[in-house]
Amino acid sequence: MADNYEYSTPVLRHNEGGVQSSVIIRPAHGCDLPYLYALCLKTADAGADASRLFCDPLLIGQYYAAPYFFYDSALCFVLTADQEPAGYIVATADTPAFNEWMNRVWLPPLRLRYPLPYPPERTNSPTELGLVSLLHQPLEESEHSFVSAYPAHLHIDILPAQQGRGQGRALMERLTEALQERNVAGVHLGVSKRNTGAAAFYARMGFQLVQEENWGFILGKKL
Ligand SMILES: CC(C)(COP(=O)(O)OP(=O)(O)OC[C@H]1O[C@@H](n2cnc3c(N)ncnc32)[C@H](O)[C@@H]1OP(=O)(O)O)[C@@H](O)C(=O)NCCC(=O)NCCS
Repeated sequence: MADNYEYSTPVLRHNEGGVQSSVIIRPAHGCDLPYLYALCLKTADAGADASRLFCDPLLIGQYYAAPYFFYDSALCFVLTADQEPAGYIVATADTPAFNEWMNRVWLPPLRLRYPLPYPPERTNSPTELGLVSLLHQPLEESEHSFVSAYPAHLHIDILPAQQGRGQGRALMERLTEALQERNVAGVHLGVSKRNTGAAAFYARMGFQLVQEENWGFILGKKL
């Protein structure tokens, strides 16, 4: 599907020889942005590669990765292996303020780029059409009661080669420190019902069920 598309994302080449590389966590930098998009796509199908579900490989990162960097890059951290990004955690400390910025600044130009009705020649993927439709909905999470107890929210994604090595925990700890320095009361996130691996990880990180949705679970953790 993506073969016909005008854009491409970086080729991610980690651990081709199976040898563990030099792995660090550092603040995200503007030069990481193409990798944020690529990593987001590579992990977006309930933790698995979603490339086959999107004709436009940038679309998912436009919603779930890049805006966090532009809104508050100090809450974005990148995991690198031999200097190449292999994972990230991105977050906002204040979900209502972030949502207001999304509605006012980030989403309007994206709605022009991804119009409704979406031209049928641009995709026949229900997943992609669903995300285009989501871009056109105003974010109103501030109306949820749990947001006052857990005002921050996050997204974390790591390539398979670096999973299961403690790097998810390390990214989570790095973000937690940054949120605690700002005296943030708690953090929430959403996880698909299909993503049982991530749900097990979040349980180990101390997250608890806050709210069940049709698509998955909202989990929260006090800081
Ligand atoms: C979910 C994810 C961030 C976890 O990161 P990770 O580096 O693999 O996890 P860690 O190695 O740091 O594991 C931390 C703890 O969680 C547990 N854990 C991690 N993944 C698990 C899994 N799939 N099943 C059960 N437990 C798991 C580990 O056993 C470990 O427990 P311990 O502290 O008792 O030893 C990572 O696997 C990932 O990015 N997956 C793909 C993208 C994704 O699903 N993102 C979340 C979308 S909501």
